[in-house]
Amino acid sequence: MKMTGIKCVVFVVVLTFLPSLASEDVEVSCVFMESCILPCSFQGGSDTVIHWIQETAGNTLVHSYYHNQDQLAKQGQRFKKRTSLFKDQISRGNATLQLTGVEVEDQGRYKCYTSINTLNGNKESFINLIVDASISGSDTETTIPCTSANTPLTGFIWRFNHSQIILNQTRTDIPYTVSKEWRQQVKSVSESGSITLQDLSSDREGIYTCELSNEQETIITNTVLRIEKSQ
Ligand SMILES: *[C@@H]1O[C@H](CO)[C@@H](O)[C@H](O)[C@H]1NC(C)=O
Ligand SMILES: *[C@@H]1O[C@H](CO)[C@@H](O)[C@H](O)[C@H]1NC(C)=O
Ligand SMILES: *[C@@H]1O[C@H](CO)[C@@H](O)[C@H](O)[C@H]1NC(C)=O
Repeated sequence: MKMTGIKCVVFVVVLTFLPSLASEDVEVSCVFMESCILPCSFQGGSDTVIHWIQETAGNTLVHSYYHNQDQLAKQGQRFKKRTSLFKDQISRGNATLQLTGVEVEDQGRYKCYTSINTLNGNKESFINLIVDASISGSDTETTIPCTSANTPLTGFIWRFNHSQIILNQTRTDIPYTVSKEWRQQVKSVSESGSITLQDLSSDREGIYTCELSNEQETIITNTVLRIEKSQ
């Protein structure tokens, strides 16, 4: 009786973990109008077939490769002249795609399908592409917007370059706290969470992340800020 009990537990654990591992998407953030790298690797071999497909846009063909060359006849119109593979890397099992001039429509889920030796060892992996906005701000004063939530906010955090906390507000009934390093720069924060910065030196260029929380969820917005000197 005892043995059966243990076997049962092991069986359940394996069942619950396998599917979630297999369907894990890799998240990639790219900046609007810049180029983007979508990683994909497979077991290298001969007769390699590669298909990159954007699933979100009704399975649009992004890029294909077989018979040792690009096959772009059925490529989606939007991707024309914007995609390339690293040819010297394909035999080593690298099907990484480069996408240039990233647009908002490029956002979504991509499938990388690979097969070698004519249908042996095919593999699928998935990328979730997020397009970050990019804004040019003045060194004297710049407002960075935050995607506003419909429901009342319970708090928000602004971060710089994915690490440093600029300011946070964990409860709406108490004022927000600005970290010491950013006191000179933070001029104000609007009710919807947008931040207004001043006296920006060039080392404040980078990625500004706003994390807005309401009762149900946290909405994260990344904005790349470039600073222009005013005369
Ligand atoms: C695939 O090739 C790209 C471009 O050369 C490179 O940046 C990337 O590191 C390679 N990936 C792997 C897993 O080797
Ligand atoms: C927000 O700020 C408060 C006060 O400075 C601090 O105690 C708290 O740890 C911060 N929260 C986060 C998530 O960083
Ligand atoms: C912030 O990130 C940007 C872009 O990744 C980088 O160019 C910049 O040097 C970083 N700034 C600091 C102060 O770490």
